[in-house]
Amino acid sequence: MRNRKKKNGVNRLENLSVLILSADDISSGCEKLYDEERPLRLEIGCGKGDFVSGISASEPGFNYIAVERIGDVALAAVEKYAERRGLGTLDFHGGWRGPDGTLYKGEKWNIPVEKRGNVRFFIGDAAAFLEIAPKGIFDRIYANFSDPWPKSRHESRRLTHPGFLMKYAALLSPNGQLRIKTDNDGLFEYTLESLTASGWEILFSTYDLHSAETDPVIRGSNVATEYEKRFTEQGVKIKAVFASAPAG
Ligand SMILES: C[S@@+](CC[C@H](N)C(=O)[O-])C[C@H]1O[C@@H](n2cnc3c(N)ncnc32)[C@H](O)[C@@H]1O
Repeated sequence: MRNRKKKNGVNRLENLSVLILSADDISSGCEKLYDEERPLRLEIGCGKGDFVSGISASEPGFNYIAVERIGDVALAAVEKYAERRGLGTLDFHGGWRGPDGTLYKGEKWNIPVEKRGNVRFFIGDAAAFLEIAPKGIFDRIYANFSDPWPKSRHESRRLTHPGFLMKYAALLSPNGQLRIKTDNDGLFEYTLESLTASGWEILFSTYDLHSAETDPVIRGSNVATEYEKRFTEQGVKIKAVFASAPAG
């Protein structure tokens, strides 16, 4: 994903930095980061945040962490989430304008924890996040439209490589699920093989998610991502698989 450098990106991130997690926040346990303890969900490669903003509102009984490694893309996701939560808006002249009209320009706005909602962001590589996150804490892990890395020499970078699957398995709670969506046929076939070879149970899979929306497993619950909207407009069918990790 390419993105021109956002104007005042560092200052803009500082305004909403209470929504951003440090490595220490994660390694020391995530429950205390939210106003209420709820089952925790993880999205890897959240892009500009349509999915996490949408699902955190439509399924509010969970806390969410969204991971994105490109700073400017993550900034777009954080600002989108804050705006949709009614936490203000980016000011035309620069800075963040809170809902009461206060302007925060390059300074942290210490949003009260009960107003921060149920999403926090980690800006960094998924591999680093997966190393430091406590085991067994996630009810669900989402990886939507992850980069396909088609060359075989880059196979280990695919987010559904067995090496990544092993790490997800360690982070998921006993009934937890991994949910993958992609436009890419090659990555989808690879993912199905990788899951099966790694002992995961396939709970649901489809080569055409939007036609499958009458299936009780997903009825009415799909939240489209930015890439999903774009590919769907181009007539590309969306592939999806839900799986649970091998026991123990
Ligand atoms: C193709 S985009 C999809 C974005 C979004 N999930 C969607 O469906 O619209 C993939 C995103 O994942 C991020 N990403 C890829 N590999 C990552 C990794 N190892 N750690 C964190 N983010 C990653 C990229 O920076 C990019 O924003």
